Amino acid sequence: MAAASSNKWRVGSTSRLLSQLVTALVGVAMFLDYVAVGVAASASWEHLSLRYGKWYRPPRTPREARAMGYRRVNEICKMDTYHGFLYVQRHNDKSRLLFDHNDRLAGIQTAIPGNMLGFNSLNESLQMPSKEIIPPILLSQEQYSSGIQMYTVTAYFQHPSLICSPYTQHAHAGKGLYIQMGYQVERQFEKIPLDADRLSDDWKTGTCLHSMGRHYFKHLSKDMKCESLYPVYLMYNADGQLGGFGWLFQGSPSESSRTPVRWLQLDPSLYRASFDVSMLPPCMFNPDFKIFTIRIYLRNEHTMICPRRDAKMDDQRDSKDHAHHGGRGHHLDRINNEEVTFRPLHPKPTNSSSGGGSNNRTPKYINSRTTTSLWMTP
Ligand SMILES: *[C@@H]1O[C@H](CO)[C@@H](O)[C@H](O)[C@H]1NC(C)=O
Ligand SMILES: *[C@@H]1O[C@H](CO)[C@@H](O)[C@H](O)[C@H]1NC(C)=O
Repeated sequence: MAAASSNKWRVGSTSRLLSQLVTALVGVAMFLDYVAVGVAASASWEHLSLRYGKWYRPPRTPREARAMGYRRVNEICKMDTYHGFLYVQRHNDKSRLLFDHNDRLAGIQTAIPGNMLGFNSLNESLQMPSKEIIPPILLSQEQYSSGIQMYTVTAYFQHPSLICSPYTQHAHAGKGLYIQMGYQVERQFEKIPLDADRLSDDWKTGTCLHSMGRHYFKHLSKDMKCESLYPVYLMYNADGQLGGFGWLFQGSPSESSRTPVRWLQLDPSLYRASFDVSMLPPCMFNPDFKIFTIRIYLRNEHTMICPRRDAKMDDQRDSKDHAHHGGRGHHLDRINNEEVTFRPLHPKPTNSSSGGGSNNRTPKYINSRTTTSLWMTP
């Protein structure tokens, strides 16, 4: 009996020890989770920057945003037209920033005016944005001071259902890209794959441009209707990793000279620098056709390289292109004049990391018609 009771005592103490151990382990796990969140938060697209010629690096925290003159728009996280706390800066429609409940950068929104004209596939002029591209363009609840209706397009960097959840402090936000596709923010979005291999066939392979990577345009083809020109394109590096995206719209917006980063405005005479022109529908060659765009980088631009095969073709074509420069000369000058202070945000990486292993992977499609990289001309 004595032996049995002492055994029982031992069993009791063992289980108490075990439960203490379990409590301690849970504590450690929660601590590790907390550390991981810290790492994930700081690792979430740390290279985020906007670029046309000049670089613009948006603030990464609400505090930085306020220091840069941004003001917070809303007190409620779940707004009717977007989720997150929106910070805006005067003269800056391109970089409206969304922060989540935990002050993490959760997305970026760009606003465009609703008073621009574009063209449809019959070369008829029509009001932009056309219904074919709503969504991802969405009617905003805001207006410009001139009374012009505002439209927005919004990208989130974490799953949209996490942004306004108070529980995400212990969730791994990580990196992601989600394009808002409706006002039901938590459900209506397009998740962009981080790996180019997982892109659906809707995404057509375009040019690869130096330090911008391989471009993918949704539904772009010779048969596309111009009113359907999709406002989002994607940029992947030679390893097939998502490295950035861009907005692309029909029209020609007027712009404050005080904007920190300008739109790249293009007309048909400049397409060859940015597009594989063999992919474009005839309506885009209407001489009055205008588009404007901005690139949003998620990765360091030095990682946005093209496979070497393309680089060789670029060289050949560059020399051929010199013959054509006469006609486009003044456009090039105009672009170059606008791009006054090119300055890479990030120092060039050391030799070892670039090139090397990145050429093993064949891209989905090699395009030999890539033209000079005017979109980034330093
Ligand atoms: C629209 O204009 C382009 C360029 O001028 C032309 O190639 C195309 O055939 C026109 N489309 C229609 C339907 O008229
Ligand atoms: C890369 O390597 C070359 C030759 O080895 C050297 O001249 C050059 O300075 C290096 N560049 C960088 C960025 O390290």
